[in-house]
This record gives sequence, C-alpha cells and structure tokens, in this order.
Amino acid sequence: MELALSDVRGLSLDLKGIGHAFGATVALDEIDLTVAAGELIALLGPSGCGKTTMLQIIAGFLRPSRGEVRFDGARVEHIPANRRRIGMVFQNYALFPHLTVFENVAYGLRARKTAKDVVAAKVEQMLGLTQMASFARRLPGELSGGQQQRVALARTLAIDPGLVLLDEPFSALDKNLRLDMQIEIKSLLKTFGVTSIIVTHDQEEALSMADRIVVLNNGRIEQIDSPDALYDRPASLFISSFIGHTNLLRGTVTDADRVQLDAGPEIDLGRSTQRRRGTQVTISVRPENIAFGAERPGAIPITIRATLPLGAVSVTEGVTASGEAVKVSQARAAGIAKAQAGETAWLAISDVSRVSIFSTPVDDVSKFQQRSV
Ligand SMILES: Nc1ncnc2c1ncn2[C@@H]1O[C@H](COP(=O)(O)OP(=O)(O)OP(=O)(O)O)[C@@H](O)[C@H]1O
Ligand SMILES: [Mg+2]
Repeated sequence: MELALSDVRGLSLDLKGIGHAFGATVALDEIDLTVAAGELIALLGPSGCGKTTMLQIIAGFLRPSRGEVRFDGARVEHIPANRRRIGMVFQNYALFPHLTVFENVAYGLRARKTAKDVVAAKVEQMLGLTQMASFARRLPGELSGGQQQRVALARTLAIDPGLVLLDEPFSALDKNLRLDMQIEIKSLLKTFGVTSIIVTHDQEEALSMADRIVVLNNGRIEQIDSPDALYDRPASLFISSFIGHTNLLRGTVTDADRVQLDAGPEIDLGRSTQRRRGTQVTISVRPENIAFGAERPGAIPITIRATLPLGAVSVTEGVTASGEAVKVSQARAAGIAKAQAGETAWLAISDVSRVSIFSTPVDDVSKFQQRSV
C-alpha cells in the first residue's frame, strides 16, 4: 500500500488577550499572537517566563484564566487536548519502553482504530522519513538519544496533526547531534506543511530553526520578528542582550546624532538618536561589528584580557576605561597578530547603522550583561 505524503494542512493559530495566573503568580499576561498555517515559530525566553504555560494552553492541557484560543478561526478553549489535532514532542521523548520502534509509531494510529494495512503503510512511511526504517524491531532502550527523538517525531507525525508542539525537544542531546537534528526536524516539519511551535531556551536553536521568533519575558511578549530582524533591530535592551552576544556601552547624548561614550570617545551614529541632549543611553554593538584599528579620534581604547580561538573565529575580550566588558569577534586568519593580555588596543565600530540605542537606566545594564553570557 502506497501513501501520498500527507494531504495534511497546518492549522492557523490565534491567541487573543491570553492571561494565566497560578494563584498569585501571573504566568502569562495579555498575549496576542497569530501564527499562519505551516509556519514554524520558536518560543524563546528566560526560565520561568511562561513558555511551557503557553504551550499547555495551546495544547488544551490548561484552560487560560482569560482570553481566546482559535484554531483556523474557531474557538477551542472548550475542546479537550485529544480532539485538537495537535502532536506533542517532549524533551524526554516519552516513548513506551516495552514497545518496539514500530509499535511506538503505530500506537496513535491503533488508538484511532486505523485499518491494519494503513497502519503498516503509515508507520513504514514515517520510519522512512525519519531514517529509522532499519530500527523498526528495536526497543527504545536500544537506541541513541537522537534516534529516540526521531522515533518520537515519527510517532507524532503519524497521526497527521495540524499543529505540532515541541517543548525543548533537543535539550537531552549533545551539541553536535543537536545541530544535525535541528536541520533534519525543521526540514521534516516543512515537508509536512504542519504548523509548529518549538519551545527552547537556546537562542541559537531559535535563530537557526524558526520562521519567526516570539520572545517572552515575565509573561509578556517582548518582540515577535524574523531571526534577522530580531538580531539586527532588537526592540529593547533585553532583546539585544538575550539574542546573540553584544557589547553594551553607556553614554550621553551630546548632539542630534552624537553620543559621548563613558569609555572615552564621542561617536557619530550617522542618524538622529531621537533623544534630547543630556539623555543617558546605552548603545549595543555586536562583537562582529567592531574591529581593531589605529589610535585616532573616535577609537575606543580597551585593555585586553584574553583572546580565545574558537574555530572559525577568534574572540578577544577586553575592558574599557569605564569598566565595560567588550568582545571583538574576527575571522581567524593567518597573520593576525594576537593581542596580549594587559596591552591597550583601539577599537572602531565598523558599521554605525547597525548600532542599536536604548534609554535604559545604567543600573539595569549590568543585569542584562550577566544574562547575555
Ligand atoms: N502548576 C503551577 N503552579 C504554580 N506556579 C506555576 C505552575 N506552573 C508554572 N508556574 C509558574 O508560572 C511561571 C511560568 O512557568 P513556565 O513553566 O511556563 O515557565 P517556562 O518559561 O517554561 O520556564 P523553563 O524555561 O524553566 O521551563 C513561573 O513563575 C512558574 O513558577
Ligand atoms: Mg518550560
């Protein structure tokens, strides 16, 4: 029996004014989110910000204190989880240890009283897609972590879900395998055209997998954007330090487009800061947007702490005269002189149009810097 690769269409999802409290703890507040059919969304944010709560509300395991959940435009708050056309993939795979790979994948289909030959064809198709066909007779305990995760995904997709929810699906895998699985699973989900929401606290995972990223902070959505927009145009200091690494430098607005840095020079941002003279600001400069240069007006002096060769790039860490930690990332090419700890070096911002500027109290900055490490 041959099965066509799914006529499954992903569901669209709308959350409107969702709020949820556990006793006195407000886990989610005023969440508005629209996800298109077939879209892959990453839900990202620090521990305790409400990611799992949001997933459980979408799945139907938790009824929100306030707000509406719609699938394809229809409200579903009253519909139990097992009738919502959703598939779930968890961190711990949750495979049945006493059932073979084949039987694990067949489980949901059998529970739905699917005809025997359809079950066999569907399981075969899913194991083929996840490259697990030759493991069909093994038990989960006889598989590696990555293989178990593939079986978990095969089992989820076997029942033709319209929406797949993945809660930290790769956190039990080591770094190399993780990257392979991220690429593989993204392409599988896209092949299926299923709508997917992946919860992660790993920002690289979110950047590499998602069409759009939703950043949650303290139960609220802080920004929803494409990976590139989030990285290049962060809406807040929190986002700029949470997504990727960045250097945060304090300063004071001295003119329409100029900022006097505490670290020494006055810099020209090439555009209006939109702030009054005298306003205290923090600028965010990515490590790859800063380079070593000559001692000249506008250059930022730092004292070198260490240089770390990290494969393709080399990262130099230093500290400004005003005590801010700075990282410089360079392609690691032969002939680059290695800066020695204790030496003074001069830095220039490569592209001022890619510098973000925020009005955030100076006290808050060190908190963000700790979080970004
Ligand atoms: N069953 C519960 N009873 C009481 N408080 C809860 C319950 N579940 C979650 N919370 C609280 O709600 C907030 C959000 O929790 P949630 O599990 O959604 O966070 P998360 O973003 O998934 O965090 P993590 O990254 O650590 O998994 C936290 O403050 C948490 O302590
Ligand atoms: Mg969680």
